Amino acid sequence: MPAAGRVTAPKPHPHLNANNLQECPIESPGQFQPRRIWLLSTPMSTVTLGPARMGDAPAIAHLSRDLIETDLPWSWTPRRVASLMRQRESAAVIARDQNRLAGFILAQYGDESAHIALLGVANEYRRQGIGRRMVQWVEETAMVAGLFLVRLEVRAIKREARHFYARLGYRETDRVDGYYSGLEDAIKMSRDLRALSTSK
Ligand SMILES: CC(C)(COP(=O)(O)OP(=O)(O)OC[C@H]1O[C@@H](n2cnc3c(N)ncnc32)[C@H](O)[C@@H]1OP(=O)(O)O)[C@@H](O)C(=O)NCCC(=O)NCCS
Repeated sequence: MPAAGRVTAPKPHPHLNANNLQECPIESPGQFQPRRIWLLSTPMSTVTLGPARMGDAPAIAHLSRDLIETDLPWSWTPRRVASLMRQRESAAVIARDQNRLAGFILAQYGDESAHIALLGVANEYRRQGIGRRMVQWVEETAMVAGLFLVRLEVRAIKREARHFYARLGYRETDRVDGYYSGLEDAIKMSRDLRALSTSK
C-alpha cells in the first residue's frame, strides 16, 4: 500500500461559524492517524476530532451497540473494535466533547478501496457536521494513500443514514439479503473520489 503523506484537513461544515473552528496541529502517531484535529465549538460544547486510542475501544463498542446495532446481536464488541484498531491498515477517529464520546469512525484501507466499517454520532451531537467531517477525513486519507473508492454497508431500514451518505455523494450499488446476522438486509454504498482529486 502506498505510504500516506500529509493529511489535509477538509473544509469545515458550512453551518459552522468559521470563527469557532480552529485548526490544531498534532503529531501523527501512525500511518493513517490525522496530523490535525479540529475543534467544533458551539455555545453548548467544544467537540474535538482526533485519533482514537486503544483505551477508547470499549466506549466506541458500547456507543456502536446503542446507535448502530439496535435490535441486532451485538457484533462490534470491545474486543472486535480493539482488534480492528490494532490492524495496521485501519484508522479510527473520534469526536470528543471533553470526556464524552460524541462520535466515531473506523475505516480500513485495502489495495483498491477504503471501507468505512463503523460510523456513529451520539444523538445530542447530530446535525452539527460531525459525521460529515469524519467521513471527509476518511476520504482525504484514502486519497493520500492512492485509493479513490470508499465503500460501506448500511442497514437497509436506516433511511436517515442512507440519506446522510447520499448527501455526501455516495451511491447505492447493491442490496445484500440477511447481511446482519441473517436478520436484516444491507445496502452497499460507495463513492468514487476521482472527481474530487482532479477538482483540487
Ligand atoms: C448518520 C449519522 C452518522 C449522521 O451524523 P451527523 O453528525 O448527524 O451528520 P451531519 O450533521 O454531518 O449531516 C450531514 C448531512 O447529512 C444529512 N443528514 C444527516 N442526518 C440526517 C437525518 N437524520 N435525516 C436526513 N438527513 C440527514 C443532512 O443533509 C446533513 O446536512 P444538513 O444538516 O446541512 O442538512 C448519525 O445520524 C448516526 O450516527 N446515525 C446512527 C448510526 C448510523 O446509522 N450510522 C451509519 C451506518 S454505520
